[in-house]
Amino acid sequence: MDFAPRMSRFKPSPSQIATARVRDLQAQGRDIIKLTAGEPDFPAPEHAKQAVMAVMERNEVQYTPINGTLAMRQAVQGKFKRDNGLHYDLDQIAVGSGSKQVLFNALMATVSSGDKVIIPGPYWASYPDMVKLAGGEPVFVPAGQNEKFKMRPAELEAAITPRTKWLMFCSPGNPTGAAYSRDELQALADVLLRHPHVHVLTDDVYEHLIFDDHEFATLAQVEPQLYGRTVTCNSVSKAYSMTGFRCGYAGGPKYIIAKMSNMQSQSTAGVSALGQAGAVAALNGPQELLKERAANLQRRRDMLFEKLNGAEGLNCDLPDGAMYIFCSCAGTIGKRAPDGRVIENDTDFTMYLLDSVGVAVVQGEAYGLSPYFRASFVAPEADLIRGGDLIQRACAALQ
Ligand SMILES: Cc1ncc(COP(=O)(O)O)c(C=O)c1O
Repeated sequence: MDFAPRMSRFKPSPSQIATARVRDLQAQGRDIIKLTAGEPDFPAPEHAKQAVMAVMERNEVQYTPINGTLAMRQAVQGKFKRDNGLHYDLDQIAVGSGSKQVLFNALMATVSSGDKVIIPGPYWASYPDMVKLAGGEPVFVPAGQNEKFKMRPAELEAAITPRTKWLMFCSPGNPTGAAYSRDELQALADVLLRHPHVHVLTDDVYEHLIFDDHEFATLAQVEPQLYGRTVTCNSVSKAYSMTGFRCGYAGGPKYIIAKMSNMQSQSTAGVSALGQAGAVAALNGPQELLKERAANLQRRRDMLFEKLNGAEGLNCDLPDGAMYIFCSCAGTIGKRAPDGRVIENDTDFTMYLLDSVGVAVVQGEAYGLSPYFRASFVAPEADLIRGGDLIQRACAALQ
């Protein structure tokens, strides 16, 4: 079989390789503490589950409209108004199988060969591959720990060329949890206002996973002049712990949303009736649980943070949101493990943790910044404590 050339545009992601290694070790009977979760561990809200059941009882399980059921688009419309102060007409709303499909549709519908898409780094590993699949070229704007992993306006300005089609933007971000303040967003928006050909694709999936006194804001809300060229994506996955419902959505200019629906019509068509029923209930239902859950995650963040910062050679800052700590392992590079191997990079370090003490994290290389690793604090508290102690022990054993 000759595969399509597009398949050579991306490689299996380093995080998939790490996941496979964890699976191998577990198959050998090893007890592994996984600090790799990319989804919250709360139950789906009860009213969302009841809504799915009711739809099944009524046998409302037929094909759904490509752009989402009317109830779903109305729920999304209400959510954007309530949480973000943004108004979208119903034909400005797209619904897909997770925000992943919504982002993918937007890129596939608009990006041509030679188009460039700006991706601030460290970034979610799927962004560059989606851009490449669409035939475009990712342009990375990396920000380091001393910049709190946030892109500065001058760096954005320097990255823009006449071929720049989109800025893909995520705050709070994966893997760093960095959240931009309103002022920081405004400063980026000021740059974008000088470049009217650049469109903005925001990925707001971590909107409600935000800690301390940070307040979420999104670009189209902060700078209304960007509204006409911004697609604002979100989903019920992380906010309501409903990843498996596969229900994402976007609000944006009608002409882009229509093309995104066309794209979806020949791949998956409308999202599952069951998923949408659950999402409607979550978006329209009581919202108090969001703050309670964020507070719970914040406590777990603090536990893991203390453990990681107490390990020799590691150094991290508290993330503002999401569910990950992006931790530097620069102080371990060049050291020798008890079995003689030398830690040369973050992949070596994460493999050393896995092999020596059975703790799984993901190397920073997967997200475009080394030497770092991503540790998720979505794990039982006992695992965070025991995993953190084991990481400290492994670091202390390096010479
Ligand atoms: C930054 C980011 N965007 C989007 C997604 C995909 O979420 P969804 O379940 O809505 O497709 C993820 C999932 O890990 C993510 O980390």
